[in-house]
Amino acid sequence: MPASVVAIGAGNRMRTYMHYAAEHPDEVKLVAIVEPDDIRRNTMGDQFGVPMEHRFVHYNDFFANPVPADAVILCTPENEHYKPCMKAIELGYHVLLEKPIAQTLQECLDMADTARRNGVIISVCHVLRYHPFFLKVSELVRSGNLGKVISISHSEGVGLDRATHGYVRGTWNREENGNPMLLAKCCHDVDFLLWITGRRCLKVSSFGSLRWFRSENAPEGAADRCVRCPLDGKCPYSAVDLYWRRRDWISNFDVPEGQTIEDVIRRELNEGVQGRCVYRCDNNVVDHQALMMELEDDIVISMTMDIFTLNDYRTTKICLTEGEIVCDEHTITVTDFRTRRQQVFDFSEMLEQPYHAGADLKIMEEFLRAIRGEETHLNTLIDESIQSHLVCYEAERSRLTGQTITL
Ligand SMILES: NC(=O)c1ccc[n+]([C@@H]2O[C@H](COP(=O)([O-])OP(=O)(O)OC[C@H]3O[C@@H](n4cnc5c(N)ncnc54)[C@H](O)[C@@H]3O)[C@@H](O)[C@H]2O)c1
Repeated sequence: MPASVVAIGAGNRMRTYMHYAAEHPDEVKLVAIVEPDDIRRNTMGDQFGVPMEHRFVHYNDFFANPVPADAVILCTPENEHYKPCMKAIELGYHVLLEKPIAQTLQECLDMADTARRNGVIISVCHVLRYHPFFLKVSELVRSGNLGKVISISHSEGVGLDRATHGYVRGTWNREENGNPMLLAKCCHDVDFLLWITGRRCLKVSSFGSLRWFRSENAPEGAADRCVRCPLDGKCPYSAVDLYWRRRDWISNFDVPEGQTIEDVIRRELNEGVQGRCVYRCDNNVVDHQALMMELEDDIVISMTMDIFTLNDYRTTKICLTEGEIVCDEHTITVTDFRTRRQQVFDFSEMLEQPYHAGADLKIMEEFLRAIRGEETHLNTLIDESIQSHLVCYEAERSRLTGQTITL
């Protein structure tokens, strides 16, 4: 019997999880869908044969007439996580929840507590824990072959395109609609660093601000929209270049029936939020941030969130007592101090594989195993995920107050 699931929020992430459902109809069946956007709701509903009466515009309508199912998959924007997740777990659904968990630490704790009391699981989608590259790093550190971890420096390269698309012009550009940028973008990184060390964080300190994407930095003569800007061709942040010439970051542009992707890009550039000048948006999230963490066993970690780079990947240097591990999402170079030998693990080819090298699909696979009561490697349950959220919330407090925070 396939597990029955309800999809809430049929955007980018849900399409990924539903790819798993399409490939494994014996394991999972979509029985209801909640999505305000007509095109998205009906496209996914039609693909999986969801009856019209099980397609809902708002989750309040769904929870007023809940369709029986084993689990809810929740991929709404982060300001719409807490309420539907609480309703789902109170009604006894297991939940696969996109990160970040919620918008405050108290909400995260409420959700974990309510799930425990109702005997259901909430699994948070920390994709790095299922990714072959990061699993290998974890295995190398946790094996103990290179001794004990002393310090780590880690950089999350968000990159210019992702940042201007999502954090300056787009969905995550205002903190009140989501979360502090560190949590929104780097909770995976903090989770990864706590996971590989297996230690709790004791103190945090953080710095950063919205330094560049502000109106006073707009070059002379810049227009409000890139499509009308005389500086197009010279500006590194041009929306015309990103969406029209390079055709990047357009996978989330919905194409209504009878129109083409060109029509949609043209409309977005002329009228939509994604066509705006990066210096004249309503963004208020930081554009650079650094975090220092002190963990148990005196481990020290420094981390930066870097937007101003074309290298949109993570780099990590792990210094241990008997060796060091240097990684850049493509290769892992391990140096053993005793032999002075180096070993290189090359994952470049694997990175070409879609769905974060299959890690997104693994999240679904393990979640479904867990709700069937089978043995699983599901290791991103809410209680563990909360540790990374705690660090990010307190880092934000540190950034705003200028203090080091003891957790
Ligand atoms: N794990 C990862 O690697 C990863 C990557 C990107 C995004 N995310 C997270 O996934 C979540 C969704 O992101 P996305 O990229 O899929 O965004 P998206 O905008 O593509 O999809 C969100 C969908 O939710 C719908 N929605 C909005 N309000 C709703 C409501 N009240 N009820 C039901 N549906 C509603 C929107 O119409 C949209 O279709 C966010 O929390 C985001 O932070 C996680």
